[in-house]
Amino acid sequence: VVRSNPVAETWASASVDLHLDLAGSRKREALERALRDAVRTGRLGPGLQLPSSRALASDLGIARNTVADAYGQLIAEGWLTARQGAGTRVADRSSAVEAAATPAPQASRPQYDLRAGSPDTAIFPRSAWLAATRRALTAAPAEALGYTDPQGRPELRQALAGYLARARGVQLTPDRIVICSGFTQGLGLICQVLRRRGAKTLAMEVYGQPRHGDIAAAAGLSTTTVPVDGHGAMIDKLADADAVLLTPAHQFPLGVVLGPQRRSRVAAWADATNGLVIEDDYDGEFRYDRQPVGAVQSLAPERVAYAGTVSKALAPGLRLGWLALPAALVGDVVAVKILTDRITSSLDQLTLAEFINSGHYDRQVRRSRLAYRRRRDRLVDALSRHTPWVRIIGIAAGLHLLLELPDSQAEHDIITRAARHGLALEGLGSYQRALSTYPPALVIGYGTPHEHAFTGAVERLTAVLARSA
Ligand SMILES: Cc1ncc(COP(=O)(O)O)c(C=O)c1O
Repeated sequence: VVRSNPVAETWASASVDLHLDLAGSRKREALERALRDAVRTGRLGPGLQLPSSRALASDLGIARNTVADAYGQLIAEGWLTARQGAGTRVADRSSAVEAAATPAPQASRPQYDLRAGSPDTAIFPRSAWLAATRRALTAAPAEALGYTDPQGRPELRQALAGYLARARGVQLTPDRIVICSGFTQGLGLICQVLRRRGAKTLAMEVYGQPRHGDIAAAAGLSTTTVPVDGHGAMIDKLADADAVLLTPAHQFPLGVVLGPQRRSRVAAWADATNGLVIEDDYDGEFRYDRQPVGAVQSLAPERVAYAGTVSKALAPGLRLGWLALPAALVGDVVAVKILTDRITSSLDQLTLAEFINSGHYDRQVRRSRLAYRRRRDRLVDALSRHTPWVRIIGIAAGLHLLLELPDSQAEHDIITRAARHGLALEGLGSYQRALSTYPPALVIGYGTPHEHAFTGAVERLTAVLARSA
């Protein structure tokens, strides 16, 4: 508690800790004003228990009566309430009046959302995650809650090394893994390291997440594009880039798989040019009709930076991802990670380690794979029945598919019409980085709606498409 002049005081008694500015010589008025402002602006929320007048007076170094009088005044004005046995609390009324006076701007959310990107966050396994958090926190050494290893918790790196080798065919040891806040941060870290090492150009598939190009540009890299056909990125057209970002298991958003020859070719390209392949394995666990496609990384572990995330298998809001790196990159990536955010939340890391080790991660992947596969089947069935003229592509994997359209005007018109009917859609054009020969299409993210909204979303989609025939 600071007691010097000017009188900006912090009280930390009872359960609250609040900065109060008691400037001026009239302490009672100053305290009333400070408390009133704190309630009005929401710094003190409705129902909050205030310290007793004795405790607050002692913390602020003023007379107890001064505090009692100030409380009395604010109770009379309706800012505070006092009940026998319940002490003095912040009243509800003031914040309600305030809220009514300044309505929060409402972002208009569409009734249905079939844009790609998010899994169904309603199927996140809350109780299993909560139980894993409890177990992880109970077992965590105190050191884990400090400024722990910036490369990532050893427990999680160990668990991921086992999981990625087993489920994705990645060749790695825990010391090659860096834990990061999703793929977004992982890509940023690699781009910054590449730039520091003198790299200039990152090649990207001609279709992809626009954000990823922005991340490369923010790190000072210029980007070129690689065309994509039915066998994935055309590696022969890589030209003289320093690195390439690929989605080999399931091209985003076209849905094609990088063919076996091209996988070998990109490994050979990296060897011959001293280049780096960044492998974005964002939804590798979700393959329905065939054996999962393993990671390219296993062909050239010293040339490929493999990246994974929980954003599809669990939830994007967790912000957890990982890089499995060539030995020569680990130190530099950790150095940039320290400058970026020092560490990723160790409690979340320990929880994920526990979640993987107890078999819940695999279980959740299997459960959601089944759920998404059913949705895909329902969607494909509805489209085949109601709009048989629409060609559907990229259905073998992932949480999205493509509906081919005759021209880009149709893409634009359908998206606009759908929006008018409460359905959010995205066109392939939003993901296009350069000219391409692919026909216009809709990218339908069937993982996004909650289960109860899925039927409605599909009906709305087929109705909109039928009207544009
Ligand atoms: C192509 C691609 N890669 C990776 C991700 C995951 O990014 P993050 O792990 O930062 O959530 C996404 C999410 O939409 C994506 O579309």
